[in-house]
Amino acid sequence: MDFRNKNVIVTGGASGIGKAISEGVVAAGGHAIIVDLNLELAVKVREELGKDRVSVYKVNMGDSEEIRSMFTKILKDNGQIHVLINNAGIVSTMPFEEVIQAEWDKVISINLTGVYAAISTLYPSMKENRYGRIVNIASVAAKRGGGLLGTSAYAASKAGVIGLTKAVAREGAPFGVTCNAVCPSLTNTPMTMNMTEEKREKVLESIPMGRAADPREIANVILFYGSDLSSFVTGEISDVDGGISMDG
Ligand SMILES: NC(=O)c1ccc[n+]([C@@H]2O[C@H](COP(=O)([O-])OP(=O)(O)OC[C@H]3O[C@@H](n4cnc5c(N)ncnc54)[C@H](O)[C@@H]3O)[C@@H](O)[C@H]2O)c1
Repeated sequence: MDFRNKNVIVTGGASGIGKAISEGVVAAGGHAIIVDLNLELAVKVREELGKDRVSVYKVNMGDSEEIRSMFTKILKDNGQIHVLINNAGIVSTMPFEEVIQAEWDKVISINLTGVYAAISTLYPSMKENRYGRIVNIASVAAKRGGGLLGTSAYAASKAGVIGLTKAVAREGAPFGVTCNAVCPSLTNTPMTMNMTEEKREKVLESIPMGRAADPREIANVILFYGSDLSSFVTGEISDVDGGISMDG
């Protein structure tokens, strides 16, 4: 993997899968631009990985106006953005009947509308440069209608990400802009830390590999789609789920 001379935005890059992506970008010689709501944590990652290799920006990915103005600033500050990795997300675990409108709106705004706002702010410059790699993080929940970890609002938001991925891939292809998505299953991150043992056991039973992923195992595939190793791949929805989906 080679990210030398590449500016790579990683939303939610301060924790879990996003942190593993940021580490991978830096290890491959790239500049990781961490966009996160948790600035304190992002600064910590920057200190860990090297101040000259990592930049941090505080952005609420649930606020489209803020995304547009901050991503425009990021473009100005850094020149070309080669890779956009839309990883920031929140989970929603309520049974369908208990999901209230505010919960629905929050999950959709961060997990789906935020991804749209980020892509649409950067897309014109990627198109002009005839180069762009966009990688979106969906979930196995999008394919199954939830049920493993996230439920209805989460599944719907991630299914939306899959549709958006294919549309951007189709329209961006003639201009050198690729767009792919990765669908992880249970991964050991702060997001899944507070699951009950009983629930974890139930989830593990559904995974042929019988274990949760390490964040690096998810990041590896995301980094592949962000790199030039995937130069002839676009619109791909890639399962990184220990064998749950196997849907060809
Ligand atoms: N962990 C899993 O089992 C799993 C499974 C499938 C999909 N995913 C997806 O992978 C992605 C990363 O998940 P994770 O497990 O690493 O989560 P995490 O909670 O460890 O990290 C999420 C990061 O996103 C940031 N973030 C949250 N809301 C934000 C907002 N409004 N604006 C900006 N930043 C925000 C957090 O501060 C954090 O740094 C998410 O999109 C998640 O839905 C995770």
